Amino acid sequence: MPVQDDAIDLLDEDHRNVERLFQQYKAAHDQSHKRTLAQQICQELTVHTRIEDEVFYPAFRQATGDQQMVQHSQKEHREAMDLVHRIEAAQVDDKLMLDLEDAILHHVNDEREKMFPEARKAKGLDLQQLAQQLQARKAELMAHA
Ligand SMILES: [Fe+2]
Ligand SMILES: [Fe+2]
Repeated sequence: MPVQDDAIDLLDEDHRNVERLFQQYKAAHDQSHKRTLAQQICQELTVHTRIEDEVFYPAFRQATGDQQMVQHSQKEHREAMDLVHRIEAAQVDDKLMLDLEDAILHHVNDEREKMFPEARKAKGLDLQQLAQQLQARKAELMAHA
């Protein structure tokens, strides 16, 4: 059987995808191209934070008991989503996009450096099964986005 991406691989693929989109946004000059990229970034982040909040974080909390890590991450999600909503309401706002990029890079770094290593060590966290749940929920949310 081929080795499948586990939950952490999938989440980090989303991270790299959004990092690339921010690079494209910063290289873009045309206003309509910027608007398209901003919308795409907001949509990707909305779906990504939801699948983490609904699927990954609860499983992580249950397996590790690390309530503090989850609360910290959820707070960063709320702050990022607040920026996302302001960007969606604006036409094109470079300053808000840079604020969002800063917030996301910081948050992604926390997940990569702290949460994901802890998740990999956790006993009783089935990362293969979680990957399937994440993928299914993501497909559902994308279909309605
Ligand atoms: Fe997150
Ligand atoms: Fe994430």
